[in-house]
Amino acid sequence: MACDEDLFFESAMELALEAAQVMRSSIVAVKTVKEKQGDWDLVTEYDRAIEDIIVGKLKLQFPTHKFIGEESTGDHLPELTNDPTWIIDPIDGTMNFIHGFPHTCIVIGLSIDKEMRIGIVYNPILEQLFTARKGKGAFLNGRPIRTSSVDSLSKSLICLESGFLKVKSLREKMLERIKIISAQTQGLRTLGSAALTLCYVALGVVEGYQIEGPGISTWDIAAPSLIISEAGGVVVDRVTGNRVDLMNPRAIAACNEKIAKELTRIVWEADRRA
Ligand code: IPD
Repeated sequence: MACDEDLFFESAMELALEAAQVMRSSIVAVKTVKEKQGDWDLVTEYDRAIEDIIVGKLKLQFPTHKFIGEESTGDHLPELTNDPTWIIDPIDGTMNFIHGFPHTCIVIGLSIDKEMRIGIVYNPILEQLFTARKGKGAFLNGRPIRTSSVDSLSKSLICLESGFLKVKSLREKMLERIKIISAQTQGLRTLGSAALTLCYVALGVVEGYQIEGPGISTWDIAAPSLIISEAGGVVVDRVTGNRVDLMNPRAIAACNEKIAKELTRIVWEADRRA
């Protein structure tokens, strides 16, 4: 028998596919670009248009549900309640989208009782559709995915966000993090889409990811955190080591707890040196 969550998932999937059409047809278009916190934090008319489509249609279908969206919520996050709450980033990797760099995606998550139940991350340019439902596994284009089985940092491919080098207060820390990660892991990558990079941890092609900074918020991490945990990985708070606080993400995502701990340790060491 179909339950409410089946309907929520089907509706979110339909909207992800609709939003994907807009992204596909506009990625090569000339966009109106505005800066938010700086020239590393951008928004276009398409971010707003896609969020309006997704939120508008979900509100019509589920009028009692709540919404947290990158473009409509802004800096002041509401409290996350037990109510069904849709958490949406209409375009994650906006700078990539502006340049036509194909790592960019639509992110839709649903929290119920403060727990993520549905996660959808869709890159329609590379046709990568990541999905998860609580307790039902994680999938790429319908095929089950698992995190990597690598258990040593020296064999790990690690990601972080180099964009934060442009934030004066973070520059020294970022430089030290880049140095230490490059030295102690097999490789360092920086892709410019937090949600997609988190999904690459779930897919098993990246072992760990350190993500926090201005502009990184619940919509970057909520849906992908479910996709990672359903794929066997972990997303922890970098400072406490506990499960990440989705409303205040300063996160280490990893294929397993050992890599999460080791990555946390070297990031801490980098910050101490900065
Ligand atoms: C951005 C991406 C990027 C990160 C930026 C975010 P947006 O999200 O997740 O990886 O480095 O700080 O703002 O703005 O493209 O949704």
